[in-house]
Amino acid sequence: MSREVLLEMTRREIENLENQRIDLAPDIHKIPTASYHDPGRYEVEVERIFKRLPLALGFSCELKVPGDYRAMTVAGVPVLMTRGNDGEAHAFVNMCSHRGNFVVEDDAGNAKNFRCRYHAWTYGIQGDLISVFDEKNFGEVDKACNGLTPLPVAERGGLIWVTLDPKAQVDIDLFLAGYGDVLDHLRFKDTYVGGRQSMEGPNWKVAYDGYRDFYHVPILHRESFGPDGPSQADYYSWGPHVRVSSPKGHEIFAGRPEDEWTNDEMVPGVWTIFPNISIAGSPVTGSYMVSQMFPGKTVGESHTIQNFLMFGDEAEKDEDALKQYMSFMHDVVYGEDYFTGFNVQQSLATGAKEFSYFGRNEGGGQLFHKWVDALIETEDEDLNALLEKGIAGRN
Ligand code: FES
Ligand SMILES: [Fe+2]
Repeated sequence: MSREVLLEMTRREIENLENQRIDLAPDIHKIPTASYHDPGRYEVEVERIFKRLPLALGFSCELKVPGDYRAMTVAGVPVLMTRGNDGEAHAFVNMCSHRGNFVVEDDAGNAKNFRCRYHAWTYGIQGDLISVFDEKNFGEVDKACNGLTPLPVAERGGLIWVTLDPKAQVDIDLFLAGYGDVLDHLRFKDTYVGGRQSMEGPNWKVAYDGYRDFYHVPILHRESFGPDGPSQADYYSWGPHVRVSSPKGHEIFAGRPEDEWTNDEMVPGVWTIFPNISIAGSPVTGSYMVSQMFPGKTVGESHTIQNFLMFGDEAEKDEDALKQYMSFMHDVVYGEDYFTGFNVQQSLATGAKEFSYFGRNEGGGQLFHKWVDALIETEDEDLNALLEKGIAGRN
């Protein structure tokens, strides 16, 4: 895990700070507004993006020991992630083989096994069907063929990545394009999930656009973050994944030799994971807020989970401070970003404007939308080739 990648970005930021500049995309990029409100387009996005790419759904630190699990519903698919007795992360469709009930409700915890609450069929933490209630009268069941349906799963960078399609063929390493190793520098392995909260939002892309854009920060968040927040950002990409970083704040490195720059000092900014994750914070501030955006039931709805990953000893968690911080971040995101997002959603749906714009200073947003377009135009059998090739000029 080389820190050279962090050094290169930090050097670049310092250079940009000294020259009072940021890296700009070649042109302004236009997005058809219909792509934010057309129900057909939304359905294709769910099918071709959320249902066939690896999604960062969980954290290694919440699946620490055998039996740890997290269950959640993603794009309508009930998912169960576990840590098995083999020490590996596993993922399944959270669906009983008898008649389809969830084998555990959406939640997190530790379990020895999962006993369906409908008719008590019981599954092991690696998904095997252990017992059928009253099998003598039910009839003989081939247990070896009736375990939970496994989903493709991988663990990289302290995150658990799951693909919702059991037959998906996407190569996670092509998809990550080295980003998993970069994310190791964020040290998620040293954190614990201190808190979690969720909120409803506008169309998933309207919501997500606000996480890749510092342009709005001192304007929309003037009251909450203050008028001095960074408005300018540089973008670094690995495949479709983007880091957003502001030259502002890099003053701390001035006059210090590079070998004194710590990795922890070099990781602030926003790290996004395509198609729906934003990571903000740093070990220096003591926590990360990891936001997971999921499409809602219709084109105009989304669901966001804010995960608060904390450094330090969980036994010494300052509950009051965390509660206050979570309440503040709820108010910022729901009261400012999503309040604005709902307005955006409503006016886009009028069709009064044909296009939205992403400026030369919004390269992260440009790249995201180009990847969305490329992915939905790509057939399953060509997906790995697209990931390998990337999008011209931006990888
Ligand atoms: S649906 Fe699970 S035991 Fe019947
Ligand atoms: Fe914002």
